[in-house]
Amino acid sequence: MIDRRTLLSASTSGVVLGALPGLGGAMARAAEAPPARQGVAMSDGAPLSPDMPVPFGRLLDPLPPADPSLRRLDDGWRFLEGDIAVAPPRGNDDTYAVTKTGNAPGAAGQDFDDGDWASVRLPHDWAIQHPIEADQNNAWGYRRRGVGWYRRTLRLEEAWRGRYLELQLGGMATNATVWFNGIPVAHSFSGYVQQNIDITPFARYGEEANVIAIRVDAQAMEGWWYEGAGLYRECALAVRPALHIATDGIHADPRPAAPGQTGGTWTVPVRVTLNNAGGGAEASEPVGPATIDVRLIAPDGRELARGQASASPAALATVEAGCDLAVTDPALWSTQAPLLHTLEVDLLRNGQVIDRRRLRLGFRTIRFDANKGFFLNGKPLKIKGVCIHQDHAGVGVALPDALVEWRVRRLQDIGCNAIRSSHHAPSLALLDACDRLGMLVMDENRHFNPSADYAAHLRWMVRRDRNRPSVIMWSVLNEEPMQGSAQGYEMVRRLAAVVKELDDSRPVTAAMNDGFFTPLNGADAVDLVGFNYRAEWYDRYHAAHPDRPIISTEDTSAVMTRGEWRNDEQRNVLGSYDTNAPEWGLTHTESWRRIGSRPFMGATFVWTGFDYHGEPTPLPWPAASSSFGILDLCGFAKMAYHIRRAQWLDGQPVIAIGPHWNWPGREGQAIQVMVPTNAAEAELFLNGASLGRKTVDPFAAPSWQVPYAPGRLEAVGYAQGREVARARVETTGAPVRLRLTADRAMMAGTGRDVQPVSVDLLDSAGRHVPTATDRVTFTLTGGGEIIGVGNGDANDHDSEQASSRRLYAGLAQVLVRAPAGQGRLTLTAQVAAAGGAGDHRLCPAGQRHARARRNPGAQPVSEWRRTAFAATLPDGAQALARSDWRALSYVRAGRLEEAPATPGYTLLQTRLTPRRDLALRGGRVAFASVAGKAQLWVDGTLVARKADAAPGPLAAALPPGEQEHVISLVLEAQAGEAVGLARSVWAWPA
Ligand code: GAL
Repeated sequence: MIDRRTLLSASTSGVVLGALPGLGGAMARAAEAPPARQGVAMSDGAPLSPDMPVPFGRLLDPLPPADPSLRRLDDGWRFLEGDIAVAPPRGNDDTYAVTKTGNAPGAAGQDFDDGDWASVRLPHDWAIQHPIEADQNNAWGYRRRGVGWYRRTLRLEEAWRGRYLELQLGGMATNATVWFNGIPVAHSFSGYVQQNIDITPFARYGEEANVIAIRVDAQAMEGWWYEGAGLYRECALAVRPALHIATDGIHADPRPAAPGQTGGTWTVPVRVTLNNAGGGAEASEPVGPATIDVRLIAPDGRELARGQASASPAALATVEAGCDLAVTDPALWSTQAPLLHTLEVDLLRNGQVIDRRRLRLGFRTIRFDANKGFFLNGKPLKIKGVCIHQDHAGVGVALPDALVEWRVRRLQDIGCNAIRSSHHAPSLALLDACDRLGMLVMDENRHFNPSADYAAHLRWMVRRDRNRPSVIMWSVLNEEPMQGSAQGYEMVRRLAAVVKELDDSRPVTAAMNDGFFTPLNGADAVDLVGFNYRAEWYDRYHAAHPDRPIISTEDTSAVMTRGEWRNDEQRNVLGSYDTNAPEWGLTHTESWRRIGSRPFMGATFVWTGFDYHGEPTPLPWPAASSSFGILDLCGFAKMAYHIRRAQWLDGQPVIAIGPHWNWPGREGQAIQVMVPTNAAEAELFLNGASLGRKTVDPFAAPSWQVPYAPGRLEAVGYAQGREVARARVETTGAPVRLRLTADRAMMAGTGRDVQPVSVDLLDSAGRHVPTATDRVTFTLTGGGEIIGVGNGDANDHDSEQASSRRLYAGLAQVLVRAPAGQGRLTLTAQVAAAGGAGDHRLCPAGQRHARARRNPGAQPVSEWRRTAFAATLPDGAQALARSDWRALSYVRAGRLEEAPATPGYTLLQTRLTPRRDLALRGGRVAFASVAGKAQLWVDGTLVARKADAAPGPLAAALPPGEQEHVISLVLEAQAGEAVGLARSVWAWPA
């Protein structure tokens, strides 16, 4: 529960220290601050630049967890970048041993020493820590990816014995193998698909440790954009009763009485998949009939409908149970009012709730019309969408949930009402934010391939996302060479069938960029024809297929650099007057003219909402990130943002001016001034003198050529002759103080909350200085962490995982993570007195992963072999030959051996390769409990005895040294008495 909150002081306590460089000796002053209060925007009162995000000022209320059985696994991971060579086994005996389940060698194994590895938190993207290197792939942002290993110890409570345990790995970029206790449990070949792994049969409880080991090969690629590397999405452990609700096991998608009808009685068919992992010896709960109790709760908390069903799945079987709920005139979900109902599904046995899920549902109808476009709840709604990648400044693809939500709000600020998760399944955090904030989603799978392994990915995505009100269509491909062929048609047909089997309420589309007019192609097999670019074919296709609904699945691809006003090869930047687009794309102005003016085009999806790392088209080195965004890599506004707002925001006056008005040395020269506005007319004034009034083309921003004179440039928008909107820019003085603008004053004390803080410089009149490029250094006190920095400059190669950043075109951003618990955070910014200058295109060595402190933890001694019971005392000094091992019995610490029929002896033996600390300092081997009289031998010497047969501890010293230890235990058993390693055995370094 998010109930403890941390107070963030940003600009309030953010004190500017030292002298600003290049300010004629002006001393920086401490930023003045209103007292920080919950819900108060952290700004010092001076107006924000229109390119800065306006603080949201509050935390959304926490929602009760959708799946209370989940425990997040953010912490406790050990990470090593690079691969770990494993010596191939020598000889038949070693080979025999190593191929056995549970015996994975090297870093995959249980006993591997990871004490030297770095400690990391998830989400984690190791590639973003790499330097930008000219010989690397520009599609990946010139960053190396490579191979990495993660390991984590997992303790499972005794009380969980008999429960169902599932490891959920949200996204691993890119190919990954997962081992649990030395057993391979998953092979993942897509970074965009969650792995849900049943670890119940392999689990060890109580004092015994479990080990998760994951090898991630990020050299494998799935996309032509920056894909990051590592465990970059949420990971969790599900602890559920043996009989439980399966992961993604509820289908509940509200249906109106008749297609398109929003009033009257709706049905919510609820289908619940129950999984029964019980029935085994360890089952803590007997398996038997169970009841599902389903309640539909209105946005205002009223219970609207309730239903029950019962089911009795056999052991290790899955069954579906369900009921239909009826509800009359429900409150509707829409982009304007995203009212969410809650479906509470309880699983009960003997009247006790044993498992629960909470789904957020929305009642809404969707329809695509071949002539009139899209309808939401029966009303026409032009889909004004953007494509995005999961990527942000400072963190790469490892986006914290709170930042995902912030980005959705940032897009809504443009008037955007839809997101295309290109070109892969979205994160859960993105879907949660879209459901909650009222953003439509085009849900897309990564691989265009209906063969079984790949179709499974699509099936997983649809099962996971089919209850979401935000999701309104499924996309099965993006620009595939086979799209225009009969084979492409067959592939799409099969993928569409996979979708329809699981969800018949949303259309299937394919984002094609060619092949529309061949005799048989992908578009012939979809519900909704998707055009990527090819605006020149919209009318032709519509004429050829007047009954087929069409949308633009991708368009525009216009490029510009925030704060730059001309294409400059030397500086490797692109101007912001909306004149640049690649051959296949169009400017923002032209693209919207084509789509906005055609009622049959149901949607636009602009490439892209935000800039992203990689794909720096068309800029050459040193540009390492893209320029397609309406917003830059940090979410700061480019001119495209103002243009799109003017195009997209209805019912709210919009006016903006570009460029800024700081052009010393250009006095008298004409400067193009662009005024995006949705007013009918616009007039521009320079220092109070009118430069003329213009009628506004609804698709294009008016421009003036203005001879530069410092001062105030003001734009006024008129509707029916009356002023409706006004914007201004002013020539500023030199910067004298720093400002930090947090998104909100309060942060959730969950340890996971993150927020972006904007950084800018102000002149003595409190005006934002749009041209500042100073380096700013940040310090955070009160706990928490600066998890990344950015400035939107595609050519800036400074590390994004640092505590300083140069401003670019007046702005930079710091991402702050609050610690768990309550407290006060203070972010302090300082303009570097020295070292602020320099060539920022120099490529510093990337920040290396911090070396972890060695973990001098104990080493498990768990794998043993045993001789058969014999009447004579065996020699405890002997080292059993490897070649004899196959004749021996396997012994695991934590369970007793069989009881012999006659009194006798057995020899237990293991070989222990000491980890570094043990090898350096020596230590001891400690048996928590041995049952039976015992002799303990280490390396051929008798070192301890246990005279009592009752279970009890036993320990002995281990000498230092790297050599393998032979540890033997001679046990004496009476007839019918079970002896053995009753509990765990550990080797402790001194
Ligand atoms: C499209 C493609 C996108 C991106 C874009 C750049 O063809 O689907 O992923 O590469 O071009 O313009």
